[in-house]
Amino acid sequence: MNLTERIEKFPFLIEFSELAKKRDEKVYIVGGFVRDLFLGRDKKEFDFLIVGDGVEFANAISKKLKQKKIVIYKTFGTAQFQYDEYFLEFVGAREESYDRASRNPKIERGSFLQDIKRRDFTINTLAISLNENDFGELIDTYKGIEDIEKKILRTPIDPMITFDDDPLRIMRAFRFASNLEFDIVDEIKDAAIQMKERLAIVAQERITDEFFKILSSERPSIGLRLMFDTGVMSVIFPEISIMGGVEQRKDYHHKDVFQHTCIVVDNISKVTDDVWLRFAALVHDIAKPQTKRFVEGIGWTFHGHEEMGARMMKSVFEKLKLPLHKIEYIKKLIRLHLRPIALVDDDVTDSAIRRLVVQAGEELDDLITLCRADITSKNPNKVTKYLENYEKVMNRVQEVREKDKLREFQSPVKGDEIMRVLDIKPSKLVGIVKTRIEEAILEGDIPNEYDAAYDFLMKIKNEYKN
Ligand code: CTP
Repeated sequence: MNLTERIEKFPFLIEFSELAKKRDEKVYIVGGFVRDLFLGRDKKEFDFLIVGDGVEFANAISKKLKQKKIVIYKTFGTAQFQYDEYFLEFVGAREESYDRASRNPKIERGSFLQDIKRRDFTINTLAISLNENDFGELIDTYKGIEDIEKKILRTPIDPMITFDDDPLRIMRAFRFASNLEFDIVDEIKDAAIQMKERLAIVAQERITDEFFKILSSERPSIGLRLMFDTGVMSVIFPEISIMGGVEQRKDYHHKDVFQHTCIVVDNISKVTDDVWLRFAALVHDIAKPQTKRFVEGIGWTFHGHEEMGARMMKSVFEKLKLPLHKIEYIKKLIRLHLRPIALVDDDVTDSAIRRLVVQAGEELDDLITLCRADITSKNPNKVTKYLENYEKVMNRVQEVREKDKLREFQSPVKGDEIMRVLDIKPSKLVGIVKTRIEEAILEGDIPNEYDAAYDFLMKIKNEYKN
């Protein structure tokens, strides 16, 4: 199918052509839609470049298409509206894209070529004309198609200028490289190294958004390593950056935690699209640098890194402006990531297994997924053995679950009953007694049933009466 045929799938585009002629302006589809067309990916967002007045054009075409709800961003000189299942965005051609200090766009009018030149990457400079004389023709000013074929990311002009115009493009470069598995030319890497501090003028939300898009790649390690190698990671997420590096003392080699983490993130990405589980994989060892000790005769230890890592999440979430409703989930996975492996031995008691089930709660499956991804040994025999270990733990979990129906675990005797039996008002004591009952169940002293819990309460009640 040729290009004209492909865009004929969108009959409303003819209206654009007619309107441009009437208004004596030029209109093009640009950016991601065209790029994705050549990558064989469907995109519902269209970006239109108007050589003329973008906002007025958008207004006029919205009327022609009988769409009333148009949104205009005056400061940005852009407009957008929805048409059927498509999102249409309009911008007038500009000479320069951004104001240096603020990332605010400059909206002085420019020509088609002036506009295209100030875009981020050659693969995003492709345009399709919607004008009568060359409708459907591809305009490939900077050899974007060749770069798509060669799978490389280049900037149309000196990347120092491209990134200086808008430093967020450093993150976009790594995101495209990671998502599309494209190589980045050295000039882009060098420019990223030099310009990384300028990311400070970019809103954190934008940076975090790109960071998570990197995490949603098939192999997020591509983007993670680019950020690490260029020093961008040390600017945006220093806690991850300091995980890099190896150390040798006597015969003890300290593994590079960053490289290990990259493998864990790639491993987990093969089995889940959930970016939060992927994020948990990224941060599960985050406190290893801080807890690292060299112990004579033993070697390197990272005692307490799970607890400290979980505690570090507060500041990480604040800095990256992550949604706070996810923090407990991430903390839980970090805190518990070493627990399953500690439960492998045959002499592990039911109560130890119960504790894991109760503490992990709904997150137990995700925790085991993380543990499995955490196996990065290159020795296939060891990998098989470790995986079998988790099988074993999960079998025990299954057994205990069936025994106890622990999933929705909570004391079978509720607070109001405790208050009645002890003849007390709502107070801290109610919680203390409830926990005592729960502990008795977890320890296996009594079964997880109402009658047994009630009898137990009757037995201990005098201890709490004054
Ligand atoms: N663009 C740019 N610099 C930016 C953002 C965007 O030059 N910082 C240009 C690029 O030409 C890009 C187009 O604006 O293709 C549209 O941007 P956007 O919609 O943000 O991204 P897409 O390239 O469409 O890709 P995606 O939707 O995957 O982000």
